[in-house]
Amino acid sequence: MRSFTLVSALAAACAVQAAGPAKARATTITPITAKGNAFFVGNDRFFVRGIDYQPGGSAANADPLADPKICLQDIKKFADLGVNVVRVYSTDNSLDHTECMNALADAGIYVMLDANNPLYSINRDKPAPSYNAAYLQSVFATIDSFIKFPNTMGFFSGNEVIHDFPNTTLSARYVKATTRDMRQYIRARGYRTALVGYSAADVTDNRMQTAAYFNCGTDDERSDFFAFNDYSWCSSDFQTAGWGEKVKNFTDYGLPIFLSEYGCIANVRDFGEVEALMSDKMTSVYSGGLLYEYTYEANKFGIVKIPGSPKDLTGTREEMDEFAAFKKALKNNPAPKGDSGYSPTSKAQPCPTKDAFWSVDSTLLPKIPDAAKEYMSKGAGKGPGLKGPGSQWAGSTSTGDAEPGSATGAFSNAASSSSAAVAGLLGPMDKTPFVVSAIVAAFTLLGAVAL
Ligand SMILES: *[C@@H]1O[C@H](CO)[C@@H](O)[C@H](O)[C@H]1NC(C)=O
Ligand SMILES: *[C@@H]1O[C@H](CO)[C@@H](O)[C@H](O)[C@H]1NC(C)=O
Repeated sequence: MRSFTLVSALAAACAVQAAGPAKARATTITPITAKGNAFFVGNDRFFVRGIDYQPGGSAANADPLADPKICLQDIKKFADLGVNVVRVYSTDNSLDHTECMNALADAGIYVMLDANNPLYSINRDKPAPSYNAAYLQSVFATIDSFIKFPNTMGFFSGNEVIHDFPNTTLSARYVKATTRDMRQYIRARGYRTALVGYSAADVTDNRMQTAAYFNCGTDDERSDFFAFNDYSWCSSDFQTAGWGEKVKNFTDYGLPIFLSEYGCIANVRDFGEVEALMSDKMTSVYSGGLLYEYTYEANKFGIVKIPGSPKDLTGTREEMDEFAAFKKALKNNPAPKGDSGYSPTSKAQPCPTKDAFWSVDSTLLPKIPDAAKEYMSKGAGKGPGLKGPGSQWAGSTSTGDAEPGSATGAFSNAASSSSAAVAGLLGPMDKTPFVVSAIVAAFTLLGAVAL
């Protein structure tokens, strides 16, 4: 509940700013594109050398890019670390982000944004009703509020929605439909290219199937990239962590891949992952990764402490020992020059078939809900922010399956493949947002019944 107070305070603090013009200033930073299985900045390959940024933790559900008192301190630290991408899990699509986004651009830093938040997301236990027009309106409004900044690299269409219970794979159709809709929205609105893909949980049993699923079918149904979370390297080495097999498994995947979270804390961390990710053992197949995570929270993964967090995220940052260790790992292992032998041709994977770990038995995706179609031509309008009524039981759901290839338009890239990983124990695989969602859903239901 504290998190709600915090978010309100942030919203109040930002109200003045939000009233101002939300126009991005001209900057020289070049948007990231995808070709074959790699990312590019202009004609040069681009490797993600980044960090996950979620001050206050997932429970706070705070938007660090809406408040310069939060972001500006951290952007200095990001520049000092030498990261080139930050992933932000929670953003408020009713607020202005100009100052933080421009400060990031000035520091040469791109942003990967999660398009979902606890109130506006696909519910992994009840996915069909949660794929609805109100949900898509929020997702599209997030695209509207960030795509004007050239340093927006792209969007995660879902984060760890599919989990370790086989029945959670049934949510994959809805997350993939959301991915399709987001890509179509970007084309329909005439926006520049921004990349859309899924961030998978560290689950060995279904990683390869999940990867194949998000890169199978017609081009409109495929993703721009695939990312997964990986906590298998616990201050060990390439062999021990089993990363060789993960390279082998994803060779020929057909889309760019990267680690959306890494950084097991079972041992004192030396960040040997960075050397591996930047080495020729991996760079023809992988495009880097994001360390989990920047701020030190209850889950103990961070490298910077914020005194007063999560109530107050403006306190003076305190670097922990791992800050210097991560900075050193980045400095000692620069991104390779040249194209590192990437595959220039994007290609699709066969869709996975149903088995003990994968419950989806159709390659068809649900149609976009009728009430959401008009966003394609008219735009999504004002976003509901992080405190709206929530979307999971809002109605206006899909009314059947879509014809493959029906989400038409021009495509920049598309495809995906697979992998596997170490579940549960080592990584954070945070279930908090879903607990929150369930509570909200329960209240919404009760509220509806009471009426
Ligand atoms: C999925 O399976 C788990 C474990 O068997 C169970 O707890 C959960 O309720 C199931 N969810 C659905 C939506 O069936
Ligand atoms: C590699 O792929 C095989 C076959 O799909 C799978 O059984 C194995 O778990 C995968 N390994 C990893 C590390 O993903």
